[in-house]
Amino acid sequence: MALLEVENVTKRFGGIVALDGVSFAAEPGEIVGLIGPNGAGKTTAFNVITRLYTPDAGDVRFEGKSLLGVPPSGVVRRGIARTFQNVELFRGMSVLDNVRVGAHARRGEQTPEDLLYYVNLHSLRYRPAAELPYGTQKRVELARALASAPRLLLLDEPAGGLSHEEVEHLGTFIKRMRDDYELTVLLVEHHMGLVMSTADRVHVLDFGRKIAEGTPAEVRGDKNVIEAYLGAEA
Ligand SMILES: Nc1ncnc2c1ncn2[C@@H]1O[C@H](COP(=O)(O)OP(=O)(O)OP(=O)(O)O)[C@@H](O)[C@H]1O
Ligand SMILES: [Mg+2]
Repeated sequence: MALLEVENVTKRFGGIVALDGVSFAAEPGEIVGLIGPNGAGKTTAFNVITRLYTPDAGDVRFEGKSLLGVPPSGVVRRGIARTFQNVELFRGMSVLDNVRVGAHARRGEQTPEDLLYYVNLHSLRYRPAAELPYGTQKRVELARALASAPRLLLLDEPAGGLSHEEVEHLGTFIKRMRDDYELTVLLVEHHMGLVMSTADRVHVLDFGRKIAEGTPAEVRGDKNVIEAYLGAEA
């Protein structure tokens, strides 16, 4: 059984159909890429899965059970964690306290201090989060997400704002996290190099609709995908 099943989800904002009957699934242990031009509906999909938004139609199931009756805190308790497109840390709080917040609703065997060693930030644990460079803040967010011992980790543009070297390291690190913590990962990303080198399968959205799915190589060569990205640049 798939760990996550998004089934025929529609989400409207007034006249905008941000998601239009979108379905995709993630199997245990997979890294699933979710790509598409700006405004395609990727972050909306994350917000529906984490129950910040209620879909107008469709269902989201985790371990076979619908999440639609579950509040956002309950989603964390079931084992889903995320990072945000624009880093959302408690800016005045220390790095360590930010990671402790992640362990509030659910925790694993590793302490927040352990997780800071894992993301190589232990020496900065007492620094206010806002003082750190953007790429470092993104690692704090990763540690905070891991602090709730997730089974499913949603990453919304983890490469956004990172340097070339940081992105190269990130790809390796996402796979290492998947292996070390037995995660399933949903990866929203514009950085195609990262998606192609990291994802096992990729789903492509455009204007709220799913236009393609397959291996990274399959979607890269897909006519509809190429047109969607060219259209977005025009
Ligand atoms: N809370 C909201 N209220 C109104 N419209 C929204 C809201 N959230 C998203 N939208 C709209 O839904 C559509 C999909 O937005 P979404 O943020 O999901 O796109 P995205 O694929 O994440 O894009 P990007 O790559 O730029 O982050 C856009 O037209 C956006 O303006
Ligand atoms: Mg987005």
